[in-house]
Amino acid sequence: MKKIIAFTGSNNPNSINEKLVQSIIRKYPNQNIEFIDLKRFDVPIYSQDIEQNGIPKPIKKLFQLFTEADAFIIASPEHNGLPSAFLKNTIDWLSRINQKFIDGKPVLLLSTSPGPTGGKTHLQILEKLVLQWGGLFVEQYSLGSFDQNFDKSGLVITNQQENIKLKKAMQALIIGQPLTKKQNVEVVQDYFNSFQNGNMEQVINSFHSDCYIVSVKEEERPKEQLHGIYRTKDGAKQFLNNITSLFNTKDFTLKHISSAGDNLVMANGTFSHEIKATGKLFNSTWVQLCIIEDEKIKEYRFYEDSAAFIAASTL
Ligand SMILES: Cc1cc2nc3c(=O)[nH]c(=O)nc-3n(C[C@H](O)[C@H](O)[C@H](O)COP(=O)(O)O)c2cc1C
Repeated sequence: MKKIIAFTGSNNPNSINEKLVQSIIRKYPNQNIEFIDLKRFDVPIYSQDIEQNGIPKPIKKLFQLFTEADAFIIASPEHNGLPSAFLKNTIDWLSRINQKFIDGKPVLLLSTSPGPTGGKTHLQILEKLVLQWGGLFVEQYSLGSFDQNFDKSGLVITNQQENIKLKKAMQALIIGQPLTKKQNVEVVQDYFNSFQNGNMEQVINSFHSDCYIVSVKEEERPKEQLHGIYRTKDGAKQFLNNITSLFNTKDFTLKHISSAGDNLVMANGTFSHEIKATGKLFNSTWVQLCIIEDEKIKEYRFYEDSAAFIAASTL
């Protein structure tokens, strides 16, 4: 059976990165994850002087353990935007045996910290270094605000969104390759497709749990009013309810959709809705702006001809 070696870059006896790793070991009892406590390897600070007398035995032992592994989980505490000196020292020694000491194996990078970023910044640096060590970087995951999102006695992440993100990252490690992520444009395209196929569950699922929706006017609205602000997935449901209870859609055409920058997707087109209450047609061009986060629509803005809507709604 494949063996995953997990270690942290922390020499803190109460390491929160170690707690994160232990929570994963508990959650994946069948994945043969072995924790290696680097603190138990009594390794001096690297010096050429020491190296001249031979690589320290603990490092040779560690290197041997690495060669027996099929994949790695590295949980790295962030120290001033960088990996800890403790981790760096271990790596410096390992690289003196073989610079590519990870040898083509998949690596999942983790970090956590009491701060909101969870040490995410330095994982970008580590991600590049994994390649230098000969490893295959598959995914990274950072748990921010550790004290608020983790139950130390139960050793579990208490925030469900975070659990979902970590599960995805673990999937990448288990299959041994990066998960193919949906492009931002695809997220919006899928939203339109689900709408057109009448699959409302998928439409709702396109939205981020913490989404912000603006239908024409960026202002609070009475529950049944179409135009205004909607928040969270419940708001998204209300938004769709309002659309479906107001309109029989005769035509909805997507003319153009494109990515505009890091996480913005712009789309435009035309529609023709019959207003159920009046039987009149509400024809309009429309523009939609979406901000995508975690392959979901986080912010959604839809603009249409509101004067035409009022005219078609009036008997
Ligand atoms: C020298 C030092 C520098 C730190 N720098 C950062 C930092 O840049 N970003 C961050 O999120 N936390 C930073 N921290 C806080 C650590 O995230 C916190 O100490 C955490 O417990 C480290 O993980 P560990 O318990 O697994 O060692 C720093 C802590 C120390 C001691």
